[in-house]
Amino acid sequence: MERRPLVAANWKMYKTVAEAVDTAHRMCQRIAADAVAEVMVAPTFVSLAGVGDAIRGSNIVLGAQNMHWEKEGAFTGEVSAAMLQSVGCRYVILGHSERRQFFGETDQSIHRKIVSAFQAGLVPVFCIGETEAERDSPQTFAVLERQLGGGLGQLNDEEIQSLVIAYEPVWAIGTGKTASNDQIQEVHAFLRRYLADQYNNALAKSIRILYGGSVKPGNATQILALPDVDGALVGGASLDAESFARIVESCPG
Ligand code: 13P
Repeated sequence: MERRPLVAANWKMYKTVAEAVDTAHRMCQRIAADAVAEVMVAPTFVSLAGVGDAIRGSNIVLGAQNMHWEKEGAFTGEVSAAMLQSVGCRYVILGHSERRQFFGETDQSIHRKIVSAFQAGLVPVFCIGETEAERDSPQTFAVLERQLGGGLGQLNDEEIQSLVIAYEPVWAIGTGKTASNDQIQEVHAFLRRYLADQYNNALAKSIRILYGGSVKPGNATQILALPDVDGALVGGASLDAESFARIVESCPG
C-alpha cells in the first residue's frame, strides 16, 4: 500500500496567537496545494482556533500537541480529545519525549491517551525514542520495543494501522545533532519488522513512520528519501514558514 508522507510542524511552546496565525497564513501561501506530502501544523492549544481559521481551505491540516485521556471532568488545566476534535484537529501528537521527560508521562498514560484519541476520531502521532544514555548502553531497540508495546497495548490492527508513529531520538531533538541516515533507516526498518512480527505484514507495510530530531531544509532531502521514512516531525525548523515549506518540498515525488 502506498504510504503518503506526512510532514508535521510541532510548534511546542512557541508563538503567541497572532504570531501563530501569521505563520499559518504564510505557510498557506508558500506550500503548494498539490504538495506530495500531507502537511500538519500543531500549535499550542490557545492558537488552535486561530490557526484552524487561517488554514481553512488549504491542504494543511490541524493537530494538537497533547490531550488528557478522560472525556471530561474536574481536571484543571487539561483538554480532552473531543475538545480537540471540536476545534478542527485531525491529529494529536502523543507521548512526545518532552512530555515523558518533564510531565511524567508513561507508556501506560500514553496508551490511555491513544485509546481516547481514537474514540474521538483523532489520529494519534505516537512518539517514541531513546535517550543518549540508552543508545550508548546499548538499549535502543529494547527501549523502543517497550515504548511501542506499552503505547499500543491491546489496540486492534485497524487502529494501529491508522495511527502514525514518530521516531524521535531524544539526543537529536533541538540539539542540532541529527541521527545518521544509517541510524535512522536501521531503526525504522526495525520498527517495521517488529510490527510485522507482532501484528501482520500488511499493517507493517502500510503504517507511516516519521522521523523527528533536528530535521532542517539542509538534511530533509536525504532523510525523507530513506526507504522506511514516511515523513518528518519538525520542531525548530517548522517555526519559520519558508524553512518548513522547503522541508515539505523535500519529499520525494
Ligand atoms: P527539533 O526539530 O527542534 O529537533 O524538534 C524535533 C521534535 O521534537 C519534533 O516533535
